[in-house]
Amino acid sequence: MADAADTEVSIRPETQADAAAILALLDHAFGPGRFVKVSERVREVARFRPDLSFVAETAEGIGGVVRLWDIGVGATRALFLGPLAVHSASRLDGLGGRLVERAGAAADALGEGPILLVGDPPYFGRFGYSAEPAAGVRLPGPVDPRRVLARGARGPLSGPVGP
Ligand SMILES: CC(C)(COP(=O)(O)OP(=O)(O)OC[C@H]1O[C@@H](n2cnc3c(N)ncnc32)[C@H](O)[C@@H]1OP(=O)(O)O)[C@@H](O)C(=O)NCCC(=O)NCCS
Repeated sequence: MADAADTEVSIRPETQADAAAILALLDHAFGPGRFVKVSERVREVARFRPDLSFVAETAEGIGGVVRLWDIGVGATRALFLGPLAVHSASRLDGLGGRLVERAGAAADALGEGPILLVGDPPYFGRFGYSAEPAAGVRLPGPVDPRRVLARGARGPLSGPVGP
């Protein structure tokens, strides 16, 4: 199988022209259940950051996406990561990791604050995300606190997530 590091896959900022392909990818990766997730409640109040959101373009089209959003956590400005999705045909080649790292590097280059997400600790742990700095974060809905992860925080994040 081709490696995602091959030149066949290019990671580039998302544009408006990608909207329909991204929607199809998210439906494929998550199904309709994605709309009831607490992350969706966060995104309803967050501001989308197209400049920090990336797609993976493969020979077959958009094979992966990661999006970042501006949020506040208490008085702290932060970013929210999600959704992250890779088409099943492109998984396990490192593409998800490349997208997570690309978004984080772009945020760091702009001097942005910490990044928060709701996700699987074993997966996101390898990219520097952990539950400890996010223990005081209050999300707008029920969530397993072990899945609330952050990276790049100068100190513990605490307070409600808002715009
Ligand atoms: C999660 C997802 C983005 C990973 O994409 P990917 O391109 O396969 O990821 P990578 O190639 O970077 O990483 C693959 C590695 O992560 C592991 N992994 C994948 N999903 C995982 C998960 N949910 N929990 C723990 N490990 C996971 C794989 O076993 C593999 O491990 P290995 O490197 O030891 O073999 C993709 O599976 C996906 O789109 N899933 C459906 C949507 C989703 O769950 N998104 C994340 C929201 S929390």
